[in-house]
Amino acid sequence: MSVSSLGYIGLSVSDQEAWKAFLGDILGMMEGVPDGDTTRMRMDGYAWRIAIEPGEEDDLVYTGYEVPDVASLRDIRERLRNIGVEVTDGSPELCAQRGVMGLFQCEDPSGLQIEVFYGPNVLTDIPFVSPAGIKEFVTGEQGLGHIFMESSDIDRLREFYVEGMGFEMSDIIHMPLDPSTPDVSVDLEFYHCNPRHHTIGLAPGGGNKRMHHFMLEVPTMDDVGFTIDRAERAGVPVPIPLGRHSNDLVTSFYMVSPSGFAVEFGYGGIVIDDNWKLARHTTPSMWGHRGLGGR
Ligand SMILES: [Fe+2]
Repeated sequence: MSVSSLGYIGLSVSDQEAWKAFLGDILGMMEGVPDGDTTRMRMDGYAWRIAIEPGEEDDLVYTGYEVPDVASLRDIRERLRNIGVEVTDGSPELCAQRGVMGLFQCEDPSGLQIEVFYGPNVLTDIPFVSPAGIKEFVTGEQGLGHIFMESSDIDRLREFYVEGMGFEMSDIIHMPLDPSTPDVSVDLEFYHCNPRHHTIGLAPGGGNKRMHHFMLEVPTMDDVGFTIDRAERAGVPVPIPLGRHSNDLVTSFYMVSPSGFAVEFGYGGIVIDDNWKLARHTTPSMWGHRGLGGR
């Protein structure tokens, strides 16, 4: 078994106001009830999906993966203990803070705080209303989107996420870094835990941030197009313009977030099932995405 989905992420950011405007006015997320000085943003019926806490890291500082019930929580905890991961059960205070019925915490091999939870607060009385006019995001069983992380120790991360958390590989993109030196390439690895093609991606890298980008998905091309316009009007840098990925077939573009890492925004990702077969791609994108992987 695996975790069910990416439930929430926590970011430590040096410019909270800029992040609030970015997630709200540009990406269309709704402000939820804050947790002290931590702003929390919604994208569906869940009480929150992205927490923005004041800090200096300008990076991902924790991720919360959802499981359906307490039995599944125990199963994942056992899997992690079996590969030598130290696991701490969440206190009632922490569960109340996160708004979940139960959780445990551990660290992935890069030192990222991982939480596995069940029973999130769901707000049927305060429906999601986007300040930017997005009707809905693609969440549900596919979770909030995906995160793409860079690490200098992919082997240990792979063991943690596959053997511990139960992820399965979706495919690999063998990507040249520059068209002029096609023999210099990296392997990007993509992993799923539900019908979303990938919930996590791993790339070798020695960058100073864990987070390369996170991705949010909307149901229509118009939702993406209007977001491109909002980003352009607000002067948000778009280092990678519209394109369609080779593996999950998402049509997307990438913005620079107020913390420097990227945010991918797209639509049309494929959903996968138990008959999924591994594949190896030699380009990140079918078309577009100029600037990505030497394209
Ligand atoms: Fe992505």
